[in-house]
Amino acid sequence: MMHTTKLGHPSRFISSLSWLFSSRMGIIKHSIWSKEHVIRGIEKMCNSEILLPLERTLDIYEFGVYRGETTVLIEHLLYGYQFTYKNLWGFDAFEGLPQETENDNFHKKGDFKHPDGGIENFERVKNYFSSYENVTIVRGWIPETFKDFTESKLCFVHLDLDLYEGYKYTLDFVWPRLVSGGIIALDDYAAPTCAGAKKATDEFVELHGLTVIDHYYIIKE
Ligand SMILES: C[S@@+](CC[C@H](N)C(=O)[O-])C[C@H]1O[C@@H](n2cnc3c(N)ncnc32)[C@H](O)[C@@H]1O
Repeated sequence: MMHTTKLGHPSRFISSLSWLFSSRMGIIKHSIWSKEHVIRGIEKMCNSEILLPLERTLDIYEFGVYRGETTVLIEHLLYGYQFTYKNLWGFDAFEGLPQETENDNFHKKGDFKHPDGGIENFERVKNYFSSYENVTIVRGWIPETFKDFTESKLCFVHLDLDLYEGYKYTLDFVWPRLVSGGIIALDDYAAPTCAGAKKATDEFVELHGLTVIDHYYIIKE
């Protein structure tokens, strides 16, 4: 079945995004252009003829929520594209990064621990999304937190965990649950400060005979 894109014209979308930033996106602090992989990845997904017929049955996962800024961006992009996903789940321990390994080159245990404390930051992000029907923030360490999510069917994954082990566990977990046409957007693959994330991704793509497209995406055939 042919599906046409739900998006009118990109410029219309960008202007609606500007409007969203000045109103609904009060907590966004970074430039959206550092999140181009999210914007382009969601755009690819929302135009996918494979995914559109299934959209209501599919979940979206973000790993590494921190202050919720990319979670907000993802939700608003999906809203802008009228992509009617089942649920958007944001996963984070809200305790800063776990112990780094010898594969990691820059970030250390405790980086990204919010100055106000983990639980306060978690409550703030959770409360922010409490009026959104299908956004859920899950507090817990990866991979322990995966045990409650074994049945998921995923169309989009945003991976922003910075370290080797987080990437390794998460890629292994999401791959069998990602449907055909599904997209993994990698925040850290091209970042010089995240050598471990790149190494884990390179090992994963080699094992599965995949390619990282444009330094940002893995797409499931
Ligand atoms: C760079 S921040 C995420 C930033 C966010 N995506 C944004 O752009 O606004 C990385 C987050 O990953 C979380 N994280 C990293 N490894 C984790 C693990 N193994 N389990 C749970 N959370 C983890 C940290 O707590 C931190 O909040």
